[in-house]
Amino acid sequence: MDEKVWSGRFHEPVSELVKQYTASITFDQRLAQCDIQGSLAHAQMLQQAGVLSVEDLSAIKAGMQEILQEIAAGKVEWSVDLEDVHMNVERLLTQKVGDAGKRLHTGRSRNDQVATDIRLWLREEIDRVVVLIRDLQSALVDLADKNAEVVMPGFTHMQVAQPVSFGHHMLAYVEMLGRDGERMLDCRHRVNRMPLGAAALAGTTFPIKREMTAQLLGFEAICQNSLDAVSDRDFAIEFTAAASILMMHLSRLSEELIYWMSPRFGFIDIADRFCTGSSIMPQKKNPDVPELVRGKSARVVGHLMGLITLMKSQPLAYNKDNQEDKEPLFDTVDTLVDTLRIYADMMRGVSVKPENMRAAVLEGFATATDLADYLVKKGLPFRDSHEVVARAVRLAEEQQQELSELSLDVLQSFSSLIDEDVYQVLSPEGSLNARNHVGGTAPAQVRAQVARWREYLQSV
Ligand code: ARG
Repeated sequence: MDEKVWSGRFHEPVSELVKQYTASITFDQRLAQCDIQGSLAHAQMLQQAGVLSVEDLSAIKAGMQEILQEIAAGKVEWSVDLEDVHMNVERLLTQKVGDAGKRLHTGRSRNDQVATDIRLWLREEIDRVVVLIRDLQSALVDLADKNAEVVMPGFTHMQVAQPVSFGHHMLAYVEMLGRDGERMLDCRHRVNRMPLGAAALAGTTFPIKREMTAQLLGFEAICQNSLDAVSDRDFAIEFTAAASILMMHLSRLSEELIYWMSPRFGFIDIADRFCTGSSIMPQKKNPDVPELVRGKSARVVGHLMGLITLMKSQPLAYNKDNQEDKEPLFDTVDTLVDTLRIYADMMRGVSVKPENMRAAVLEGFATATDLADYLVKKGLPFRDSHEVVARAVRLAEEQQQELSELSLDVLQSFSSLIDEDVYQVLSPEGSLNARNHVGGTAPAQVRAQVARWREYLQSV
């Protein structure tokens, strides 16, 4: 017996292969709770609109409660014959409550139903993601607080540039994650609009009350054009773009953790529980977690490309292509949630090696700019002072010395403006403290930013 709800128009049953190929139940069963939530609001609205009787509505409510319990208990057997989650749930309901279940789909189509389900689902996931972003931010803020005074080399072009506070470096990522959270919440406004009522594509002949359904479901607004409502998945693309940017940020931090941890750098250590060994090389402790985060960022960016390509050139309105939106979206959320969780844990297990960082600062002429600024403050134009310092660096390099190891006599041979107080300027700590303005790396500024972030993170 062919069980398809639409089989009446067809002369032969659909082939087994096609059934498997077109079914989405293996993955869209994940939307079941949202599907039921949407159906209950729709039914309530239909009753208010005089389309469903009070009896039908209460039968639907009771039936759906039972189905929810069965799903939670893992008792539902999803059927591929019934194609997708929407028809599976409808069939379960009809088996329980008969005609009331068959009336539920009045004034609705799977096209507006599925678009509504995904939005309900994604809205909740965004809220979960935002909480996890904030938790990672607070782990980084704690690390910044503990290490505000720790001097490390700041790099440009992967070469030692100027000393920075390790705390300042951590807070750079807190800023990035702050914008990631903003992007998520901003995108949430566009996710949180209701397609229901668009029906298949043109709207419905029933006297529906869309505002009521939207209010019951907590949507901020309703989609104003039925064709747009059922066909576009820009909200999912937008979310995946925000997710890609977030993963891109974490891939940058991961890259840094990986080389900071390599014995060549030895800037940090990552707790053993986040690392693995080698089956052949006994000395190895590998940073698998940051490496996998770096790898998984590719996967999320891939989903963004997948979704935007899925949408590209699709004519209005709904096309079955859109069934392919779910797996990339689900996997993006799963990857993001797992990554954020493990990352916050891992950052809490990072230990810092200040001696090695300081040694790297000293090896890299990192205070050369400070010396140039020093001469400018004594009246030399910056271009001239840049030249003077470059010559001093060349000499130091030839003699395999640090700038601070050059004697006062030698330094004065480059410029008579140089005095004993220059050694204060050449120290990494002096360099840090001198950059004491909003956005600068001075430990006092780092502490002020830590306080600002703590206040924000406690207020949300
Ligand atoms: N499973 C479908 C999807 O995910 C639901 C909508 C199907 N609508 C249709 N007319 N075939 O997009």
